[in-house]
Amino acid sequence: MLQRLGADMKRRTVRAPGRVNLIGDHTDYTGGLALPAALPWATTVTWEEAQNRVTVESVFNGVDHKASIGLNESASNAPSWLIIAQFLARATGTGGHFTVTSDLPVGAGLSSSAAYTVAVALALGSTGDPWLIAKHCQEAEAAAGSNVGLLDQMASLTGQLGKAVLLDFTKELFEPVELPEGTELVIVDSTQRRSLASSAYSERRRDCEVIEQELGPLASASLDLVEELHDPLLRRRAHHVVSENLRVRAAVESARRGDPVGFGQAMNESHRSLAEDFDVSTSTLNDLSAALRSLPGVFGARMTGGGFGGCVVALTETGVGATINLGLPTLVVVPGDGAQVLETE
Ligand code: GLA
Repeated sequence: MLQRLGADMKRRTVRAPGRVNLIGDHTDYTGGLALPAALPWATTVTWEEAQNRVTVESVFNGVDHKASIGLNESASNAPSWLIIAQFLARATGTGGHFTVTSDLPVGAGLSSSAAYTVAVALALGSTGDPWLIAKHCQEAEAAAGSNVGLLDQMASLTGQLGKAVLLDFTKELFEPVELPEGTELVIVDSTQRRSLASSAYSERRRDCEVIEQELGPLASASLDLVEELHDPLLRRRAHHVVSENLRVRAAVESARRGDPVGFGQAMNESHRSLAEDFDVSTSTLNDLSAALRSLPGVFGARMTGGGFGGCVVALTETGVGATINLGLPTLVVVPGDGAQVLETE
């Protein structure tokens, strides 16, 4: 059962970061592995108690947004961020006034939506096992029509300063992983916004369900078993998922050996697999990751997250990020801490 902080609190401020996934995409919803890192950029939510009403007020890109709804009112026409807050508030039985600020780019595939949802859940007092909190947040996003896995919420909840986090979605484990010494993470925003992302995401999930009806759980399937699938499209989809889980393990072993070359190879191969077998990349993301790979000091580069636009992540030698000039927003990332309660009253 989800635990809650003291019910006598009247106000709570929480900061929840976005994430970049280093390897392991489209593996979470079949119980596989992923290796994200929390970003130093976050969404901050202040909750103040308000009986029987949920109000969300935010400023994004200089534009004010405010909407309000009764705690038990039908939310079918409400914006997704209000539906999420209402869903989470209902579980506590009390309304709230939520004030939201963020320095996380929205729509860039860096999990602004999960950061918001996690911040609202913690601002309402959720505490304890991060897997339970993440599942509660997943239900809230589903109520708002977004059928996501657990990668983004877990990354936001369990991030650790300077480290990546290995997530195992079957065993429900998380474990910090140091990146090889002398390396840094660089994110380049393709500025291609993620159109088609949600419909294609649901299609991929359905493909995986069909595969699992035939093969059993993909998380424990071997590459040999994948060959038994007759449908060539489903075989490619399954090949991505099973090989991606192996690549997450290989990347973690490379990191533990202090081998950035091995880590980078796993990232490059992951991109190829997402592009050719899982069909979630775009020519923009392919060109951008190839451009990064061709630069000196870059060990590997890949699309990150759901795909169909958004960002590319690279592992480079320290100092290389500042020299990259592809005419696109480029960020050198030191992984940040996971979500935190900043103050309570
Ligand atoms: C989106 C979803 C995650 C995960 C990734 C792909 O970010 O929200 O749950 O499935 O796509 O790895």
